[in-house]
Amino acid sequence: MAQLWGGRFTKKTDDAVYEFNASIGFDKELIEEDAAGSIAHAKMLVKTGIISTTEGDAIVKGLKSILDDVSSGKLQITSEYEDIHSFMEANLIDRIGDAGKKLHTGRSRNDQVALDMRLYTRKTVKLISEDLTELLNVILKIARENTDTYMPGFTHLQKAQPVTLSHYILAYFEMFKRDALRLSDIYKRMNYSPLGAGALAGTTYPLDRDFVAKELDFTGPTLNSMDSVSDRDYLIEFLSALSLIMMHLSRLSEEMIIFNSNEYRFIEIDDTYSTGSSIMPQKKNPDICELVRGKTGRVYGALMSLLTTMKGIPLAYNKDMQEDKEVSFDAFKTVHDSLTLFAGMLKCTKFNKDIMAKSAVNGFTNATDAADYLVKKGMPFRDAHAVIGKLVLACIDKSCAIDDLSIDELKAFSDMFDEDVYEAISLKTCVDKRKTAGACSPEAVLAAIKAEESFLDEYTCG
Ligand code: ARG
Repeated sequence: MAQLWGGRFTKKTDDAVYEFNASIGFDKELIEEDAAGSIAHAKMLVKTGIISTTEGDAIVKGLKSILDDVSSGKLQITSEYEDIHSFMEANLIDRIGDAGKKLHTGRSRNDQVALDMRLYTRKTVKLISEDLTELLNVILKIARENTDTYMPGFTHLQKAQPVTLSHYILAYFEMFKRDALRLSDIYKRMNYSPLGAGALAGTTYPLDRDFVAKELDFTGPTLNSMDSVSDRDYLIEFLSALSLIMMHLSRLSEEMIIFNSNEYRFIEIDDTYSTGSSIMPQKKNPDICELVRGKTGRVYGALMSLLTTMKGIPLAYNKDMQEDKEVSFDAFKTVHDSLTLFAGMLKCTKFNKDIMAKSAVNGFTNATDAADYLVKKGMPFRDAHAVIGKLVLACIDKSCAIDDLSIDELKAFSDMFDEDVYEAISLKTCVDKRKTAGACSPEAVLAAIKAEESFLDEYTCG
């Protein structure tokens, strides 16, 4: 056991207690952030005259050599240390002697871990925003190529009205766009340095918190030392944004599973993103979609876990907060993997355009347009709705579509029907006539694509 405390103890920590308390098994993930924070702190201690330049240089060099040795495998992070902070400090003292013992001047593990976690989360917010941008680009490419690829739109998973593939996929662009905007918003709000808050009350050393904040690319230092060591809001916000991303991915997964099924065959997920069955030779399963849909639960779980951990904690630091790490790291990796796999899978997914178009014409997707036709001829909408309802019932009986009926058959339902009805309720008209902003006509969709392109040009996070 190599620990940073012990002076006031007369007995050794119980082994099970030591193990239960230790965080090295997972906070070793923070090694780079811990080193970066310590280097900034050491430089500041030199600048303010708290330690000498020679001591500061030795600390910086020592920390860098520890990082190098860990990444080359020469130095192992073992459970002999309580946490990553103890590991770094003990190894530093080993390497540079007394100067290493001065690094922790004016600092507590409370503001140290608050800084490490903030740096790590900030880096991940950026990474996820890059993943999202890649996915948005893939979606936009599909949208550009399919402004006249027809498919049915659904409500209640029943065919409703025809749309285009472009229009459909842009719905997901909008969702992931809002997710991306949430990330840049979170980044701005969280980008303040907690270092210098000390254990909870600040310190009596003349620390230069602005200098540290600048060194680490923060907008500035935080304003309240008690809040600085107790705040995990930014992490909860991020987990909430990650949950929404997974919710959107999960909805798309569900639709891809349905559209990839034998019954639909709208799409074909590439062999490289599918798996087989050990018993049924014919099987090609959409496992990636199913796993993404399934993993949504663990990201929601991380959010609920941290919300619950934080809800009853009195100010300021309490060990409960150590629980923020495992669930967050797991959620970060899950969302990163899900987004990158999904973008790769979408890129090579094949769209069976003929099957989609065929499906868009049957199932009475033009019934609303047939009613609108009668309205344009002068019939009140509610009456037109009833006439077309009866017409649909008759067609179901005859197993045909509305436009399969002759003009005389149609006139039996209303004498307002004329030859121009066929054109008015054709698939092309049903889509092309929906020109309002945000609607499915190629004209409206092209305007939306242009707006989405400018969004991508201007979007930044961090
Ligand atoms: N492992 C701890 C955590 O993650 C570091 C901070 C320890 N602070 C303390 N006062 N024991 O929260």
